[in-house]
Formats: sequence, C-alpha cells, structure tokens
Amino acid sequence: MAIRSVLCVVGARPNFMKVGPLIPALAARGLAAPLVHTGQHYDVAMNDRFFAELGLPQPDVNLEVGSGSHAVQTGEIMRRFETVLDERAPTAVLVVGDVNSTIACALVAAKKGIIVVHVEAGLRSYDRTMPEEINRVLTDQISDFLFTTEAGALANLVREGIDPARVFLVGNVMIDTLVANLDNALPAAATLAAHGAAFSSGYVLVTLHRPSNVDDPVALAGLVDCLAEMAAEAPVAFPMHPRTRARIAAAGLSDRLSGPSIALLPPAGYLEMLGLMRSARMVVTDSGGIQEETTALGVPCLTVRDNTERPITVTDGTNTLVGTDPARVLAAFRHTLATGGKAGRVPHLWDGHSASRIAAVLAEKL
Ligand code: UD1
Repeated sequence: MAIRSVLCVVGARPNFMKVGPLIPALAARGLAAPLVHTGQHYDVAMNDRFFAELGLPQPDVNLEVGSGSHAVQTGEIMRRFETVLDERAPTAVLVVGDVNSTIACALVAAKKGIIVVHVEAGLRSYDRTMPEEINRVLTDQISDFLFTTEAGALANLVREGIDPARVFLVGNVMIDTLVANLDNALPAAATLAAHGAAFSSGYVLVTLHRPSNVDDPVALAGLVDCLAEMAAEAPVAFPMHPRTRARIAAAGLSDRLSGPSIALLPPAGYLEMLGLMRSARMVVTDSGGIQEETTALGVPCLTVRDNTERPITVTDGTNTLVGTDPARVLAAFRHTLATGGKAGRVPHLWDGHSASRIAAVLAEKL
C-alpha cells in the first residue's frame, strides 16, 4: 500500500504549538506528515524562534506569502498551495485553528477532492465581525474530519448541519505542547531582566492584538490609558505583537506607556511566554490561545472581548470575559488584585495526549 500522507499546514504564530505535537504522533502511526508553511507570519520573533523552541521540522515547502489585506493574503495562499497539492497529492490536508492560512488551504484541498482534517473545530464566538469566526465556520463546513477541544463544540457543529459521526472530542493539542514544555519554561524574572524591566515578580501580563481592540485609535487609546492606570497599582509586562506596536506608535500613544512599572517587550518566544504566564499575578489578553493556556496553568485571565469562542475557559477555567470598556476592564483588574482571582479546573482531555488521539483516529479512517 502507498504511504498515506497527512499534509500539515502552519501559517501564523498560534498554529505552531498546535501542529508541533501532531507531526510525531502521525509518524508514530505510520502516516507521513509533510509540513507546509504559508509564510503568513515571517518575522524572526513571530516565526523562526518557535520552530527552534518547539522542535518543529523545517517546512518541506514555504509559500512565503507574507502580509496583505485578507483577500490578498488568502488568495495568494490559495494560488500557491494549489501547486503544492498538485505536486504532492497527499491523502489528506490537516489545518488547525482559525487563521487565514486555515481557510485558504482547506478550501483549495476541498475543491480538489482531498480529505480535509480540521483540528480545533466547532469553536464559535457567534461574532461575524471577527475574521477568525468566518474562517472557523467556513473551514468546518468543508472539513471531512473535525477534532474538537471542548464538548460544546459538537452542538455548534450539529446546528450547522455537520454529521456528528465526523466529529471527535480529543482535547487540546496546544495543551499537549504546554504540558511537554512546562519544565523548560524560561523563568519570568530572567526574561524581564533581559528586557530591562524594573520589576521581576508580582506583575500583570498583557497581550493585545485583535483588530477590534488595536485598529481603532479611539478604542486603542482607551485601553492604553487603562493599562497606564493598572501600572499605578501593579507592574505591567506587555509583549507586543508587531501590529499592536505599529498601531500604538501611529496613534501617538507610545508616551502613555512609559515608566518603571511598565515593561514593553518584543513578541515573546514560546518558552518565555510560558514562564511569563505561569508566574503572572493575572493575564489580561484578547488572544484565543492564551485564554486556554491560562486555564491549563490555573492563572486568572481577564479577556478583553465581549465574547469568546472558548466558553469552557469561563465555565470550567480561570477566564473572565470583561468586555472592552476600559472602566469595566479596570474594575475587573482591581477585583482580581484584591481577591486573587478566579480558581478553575483543567477541562476534560486537556491532558497532553490529544495529538495521539487524533493520530489514532486518522490511522483508522484514512
Ligand atoms: C493572525 C490571525 C489571528 C492570530 C494572530 C496571532 C488571521 C485572520 N488572524 O493575526 O487569528 O491570533 O495571527 O498572531 O489569520 N506582521 C509582522 N510580522 C509578522 C506577521 C505580521 O510584522 O511576522 C504584521 C504585519 O504588519 C501585518 C500584521 O502584523 O500586516 C498583521 O498580520 P496578519 O498575519 O495579517 O494577522 P495577525 O494580526 O498577525
């Protein structure tokens, strides 16, 4: 029998820690797992470091699409990915998460009649203004095998007409990576010192990059002022996504984030970020993945959004949705400082073994 191959796609930072554990798990089941990188993220800080730290193999193909509008980026990935499928004719294409690379590659594969596997399926914010929500809904519609991280995802998929026989609750591959790397996390004090922070503990860790928070200068100014107020009560460590740094600079807001109790850091590497999250007093974020990682670590998380596609982090985990109104964010921050924040428990099957569950299903079904 010809070797069955599951062509794995990565494009952007949050994909790397999801695909990392899948490649060896697929290999252990006798499935070839070539890796295609779309090049959606390309900076050393957003890309190269993660490959080294996570032990990912160098991609077999890099499409080098870079940045662009959603249409340009998605279209360019599709155009270049089609050639790869023609050359390699994989048994299946595996995509993860909800970034533009996810929908672009799933769509090309589906139109070619190649089996599409979606890992982290069925999450819904029910907010179609989020580009990721469009990517999630459409990718799930054209996927053949759908692997979910939380039980509620199945109901979302069934509501959209997807046959439950194709849906498998396997847990969270991103937490596989967290479990495997926790012992190697870099101490937060060392990371903070390396970037000249005037504090080494007791800090609040902040990440913001959602277009809804950082692309609108008025919303951004409100959140920047909110961070400055937080820093008067607890030190703030803020590793910045390149788009956030650019928007803050363009809006003339950089001066408001200065002083000894604010540390503006470059985008953190994976092992730095693990260390920073684990030792934080709380995390304030609009990231999807960080809501899950803080739940796995038992660190309180305030999510600066009105909704979440990951409700289990709120019902079971340490996450609280605080909205985007600066006054509300500040009130939740003060409450968390005073009370120590929400305790939670780790969700079912977030145990470090999700990738091997996925590989077992695919070895049987493909
Ligand atoms: C993408 C994902 C988002 C994910 C985020 C994690 C989509 C729709 N969004 O958003 O879900 O949470 O990645 O980081 O796919 N840039 C660089 N260097 C890079 C990459 C980007 O400077 O290596 C800058 C560019 O100016 C670019 C901007 O960041 O225009 C946005 O990058 P893009 O890939 O379009 O989306 P993200 O905001 O990173």
